[in-house]
Formats: sequence, C-alpha cells, structure tokens
Amino acid sequence: MHSLELNRGKFVSGEELAESFGVTRAAIWKAVESLREEGHRITAVTNKGYKLEKFSDILTAKGIKSHLKNDSKVTRVICLTETDSTNNYAKRLAVNGESHGTLIAANHQTSGRGRRGHNFESPAGKGLYMSLILRPNCDAGKFQMITVADAVAVCLAVEDLYPESRGSLGIKWVNDVYTRGKKISGILTEAVTGFESGEIESVITGIGINVSHWDFPKEAGNAGSIFEDENMMFGRDELCARVADYVMAFAENLDDPQIISEYRKRSILTGREVSFMKGERKCYGHVEGIDDSGGLVIVNESGEKEILRSGEVFMIRDEEKIS
Ligand code: BTN
Repeated sequence: MHSLELNRGKFVSGEELAESFGVTRAAIWKAVESLREEGHRITAVTNKGYKLEKFSDILTAKGIKSHLKNDSKVTRVICLTETDSTNNYAKRLAVNGESHGTLIAANHQTSGRGRRGHNFESPAGKGLYMSLILRPNCDAGKFQMITVADAVAVCLAVEDLYPESRGSLGIKWVNDVYTRGKKISGILTEAVTGFESGEIESVITGIGINVSHWDFPKEAGNAGSIFEDENMMFGRDELCARVADYVMAFAENLDDPQIISEYRKRSILTGREVSFMKGERKCYGHVEGIDDSGGLVIVNESGEKEILRSGEVFMIRDEEKIS
C-alpha cells in the first residue's frame, strides 16, 4: 500500500512491486485485490500496472497505524465508522482510565461539537475527526498550550504531506487553521475532572479537518477544505497519523520553543486591527503578536497593552467575521 500511496495517481508496474517486495506478481495481484476489498480505489491496467486513485481515501485503524512513526507516542488507535463525537467517545474512555496517547478517529460524527456550543459539520468521508486522550504532566495553566500545539501540528502535518501548501496555511488565534481565506480546521480541547478528586485527570483534545468537503451548508460560514477538488495528494489515514505524532511529541514538552515559534510564523492576526468583546463592551486594538504562552498581545485604543487568553477576535478591515 505504501508504494502505491507514494505514487498516488500514477501507475506502478506489477513487476516493479513484485521485485521490491521479493514476491511473485500473482501475490501482488492478490494483495491489491484485498486492498480493493477494504475499499481502496485501485485501478489495474494491463502493461501499466496498478494506480491508487487520487480520490481514494478510506480511514482505517490499520492504515493509520501503518503511517505512525516507529517511535510514535500514540499507544492505541480506535477508528470508528460513526460516532456522536470523538471527544465524547474519548471522554467516556478517559473516565474509565484509558491511557495517555489513545487516539480515536471517526469517518463520521453525528453530533460533532465546536467551541462555544457550535456544531462542527462532520459528514462521512469528507473530513478527519480525531481526538487524543492526554494525561500531561503539567499544571492546568499549560493546557492552552495543547490547543496551540494542535494548530501547529495540523499545519506541519499538511505541509509535510503536501509541500506545495507551505506558506499558504495560517492560524487564526487561537486555534483555527485557514487556507485560501477559508477555515479548514478547528480544535476543541476539554478537561476531564475526576468525580471524587475534583482535579483534572486527563485532557481530550479534538481536531476536525475538512479534507474533501465542497458543499458546506450556509451556517458553516467560511469553511473550506484542504483540497479544492478530487485531486488529493494524500489520504486521511496518513494525515491522522502525522497530526497525532506531532501532537504527542509536543505534549511531551509543552515548553518546547518550537511550538510557539511555528505558531507565530503562521499567525494571521499579527499586525492586524481587530475588535473583541469585553463583557458587553466592544473594544478595538492592534495585534502585536503572540506571547510565550499563546496569549494574543493587543495594544488597545488607549495605547495600553492587553493580553487575551480566550475569547473571539474579529479582523476589522471590513468588519468581516472570519471565525
Ligand atoms: C471549532 O472549530 O469550534 C472546534 C471544532 C472541533 C471539531 C473536532 S472534530 C473531532 C472532535 N470531536 C468533536 O465533537 N469536536 C472535535
């Protein structure tokens, strides 16, 4: 499968495949047949060989595992055809003691959740919906860094797999990933508190990425997808593994300066005029940048510096809401 994936959209000869694996061409044919049975879209043409179609994109635990790094910190992979929300599923596991590093991915969410009670459109086959259970060894003050690290992880993963996207991915504070002016990814991080201890026992960090969703309902605002059409450069299995590996590596050391420096490089709001709400009052300011713990540094109308730790911020060039 790897050889076909590396050559997505191109024919690889049966002979070449047989030679590289040291097996017969008949064995290759059999292996391709079983991949097709799993749902991979592979075209076979005499004298040309086999081609994994660019739009072939199925999500399986086997596929995700095959793309994890050898020293991956992901400890378990659960891949679901459908669930209410991978964050809900992860929470149910976490309260029963599921370990750090468990990854839950789903092909479809029936009640995908966004921040501030919003829905997250999660149709089957068109996006990647994933959650990780973390038991980070740090105080609650550092939890915002998990969300910051997730946004960086999404950008780095897409850029690794699709180098042409470099320079076009941006992060809108605090955790939305944009490309071509459209939001392609959102993050929802939630704490699970022990019933008796009242302390945070684990953190569920959920990431939604639109991969090949091109028919959003009006309510989805300015949502977009990584790919503009069926010409897809990678599948969700690979994307899921890459994002999970980055998140797990960052979670090992949330103080790693690479996290914030990669975030700053992609911060869309830096240098922009913005508006934001403070209670009932609408405020304006100029964004200076991102501080070391992921806060948004703003110089307000009175020329004072303020640091926002949460909330929503709008760019005010044309008062257009971009979140
Ligand atoms: C947002 O944009 O407001 C956050 C969206 C987060 C969506 C992801 S999809 C996987 C996980 N499960 C959910 O129900 N939500 C998160």
